[in-house]
Amino acid sequence: MRLSTIILGVVGLVSGVEDDLAFMRSDPAAHQLVAYKMSIKEERKTLTISNGAPVDYRDTNSLNDNLILNPYFLDSIMHMTQERIPERIVHTKGAGAFGYFEVTHDIQKYCKAKLFEYIGKKTPLVVRFSTSIQDRGSSDLWREARGYAVKFYTEDGNWDMVGFNTPVYFYKDPQYFVGFVHSQKKNQVTAVRDINAIFDFLTLRPETLHEFLWIFSDIGIPDGYRRMSGFSIHTYELVNEHGESHFARFHFITDQGIKNIPTELALQISAQDADYAIRDLYNAIANGSFPSWTMYIEVMSKEEVEKADFDPFDVTLLWPKGHYPLLPVGKLILNRNPSNYFADVEKVAMNPGHLVPGIAGPPDKMFEGRVLAYKDAQNYRLGVNHNKIPVNCLCMPVLIIEMDCRL
Ligand code: HEM
Ligand SMILES: *[C@@H]1O[C@H](CO)[C@@H](O)[C@H](O)[C@H]1NC(C)=O
Repeated sequence: MRLSTIILGVVGLVSGVEDDLAFMRSDPAAHQLVAYKMSIKEERKTLTISNGAPVDYRDTNSLNDNLILNPYFLDSIMHMTQERIPERIVHTKGAGAFGYFEVTHDIQKYCKAKLFEYIGKKTPLVVRFSTSIQDRGSSDLWREARGYAVKFYTEDGNWDMVGFNTPVYFYKDPQYFVGFVHSQKKNQVTAVRDINAIFDFLTLRPETLHEFLWIFSDIGIPDGYRRMSGFSIHTYELVNEHGESHFARFHFITDQGIKNIPTELALQISAQDADYAIRDLYNAIANGSFPSWTMYIEVMSKEEVEKADFDPFDVTLLWPKGHYPLLPVGKLILNRNPSNYFADVEKVAMNPGHLVPGIAGPPDKMFEGRVLAYKDAQNYRLGVNHNKIPVNCLCMPVLIIEMDCRL
């Protein structure tokens, strides 16, 4: 049984009020504190500072003493003044969750990665879905591409698949990233969003039109993160145990069905609940409606790549529909909320350069640029030891999540 179910069950017994219980179940995010209060054991009710020592009752009031000699004041104020780290430049606002990937179809003739070893194999993972240009406090329902990033904790290391909810990207030269991001974020002189900058970029770099058409279509405002699909966009080189290569794009098709929000309604919701998409994901997992996606690979052989009359590695293009096999691989299922959003989501370091044996990575220039940029961003944002932070480290999440996988 899930912890949240147990907690809500206990609340029900204690209060005996079915109406209250139904109310709490309707929006677990809104009632997290109440559920937490009901769940904590007596021995955990002691307030401690970071070295584990209980707070002396006298120190909870700082008026009568020298502040420097009040360990509770010093410890808590210094955690508060330093409780922010630099926000991500892009994909700043996001929602995270844990879960697992389960293989349903054998693709070992294409890829030897441990993740795909046998049908039924489960690999723990963490996802982070995000808006792309919004600042931390903005609405989840702005019209733009959404990030779809997955970190698979495989036995051969972590594989990060860092994609979008659209199957293509804006341009294929990583040099454009700087100007592009600046054109989408707030004008550096006025500090407000500048529609001229956005349309200058679009019209002066016509290859961006394809991705902008996706964004100006209905899927530009997904109804929460559960109801959108995810795409690697890049064409990855996959290697099998004989050292043979194939080339594939990864698609994660939502099992909840695609659902979007019309612009007017998105504006209304944004005014009341800027965290609409984060809340929706949290609540769905807390109430046991675990969201899932079916992973497919769209595959080309080396010979097909050589013969193709288009560039299969061009991230601004789709492959012609129906020409190359689209093979189901498995299910991605989310079944656990973060226990601390800062530790589990803010500190996750998704880096497309995190590859594993069998997944050689995409050979295109954009990918080369990305491998550099994410590492640099994370060295700055989280420090050079970012892969030692529990959510980014192989050992700890595996221990926790494997237990969930067995339930
Ligand atoms: C196919 C094209 C691209 C896709 C699908 C993509 C997707 C994403 C996603 C989903 C994130 C958020 C990761 C998270 O949730 O933590 C992200 C962050 C980021 N992206 Fe990209 N991106 C693309 C191209 C690029 C390029 C070309 C660059 C630069 C050369 C770049 C630089 C960054 C940086 C610096 C971050 C912040 C990383 C961090 O602070 O952890 N991206 N991108
Ligand atoms: C669970 O939560 C999601 C998101 O709020 C909601 O759409 C769904 O109807 C809920 N399901 C149940 C069984 O309460």
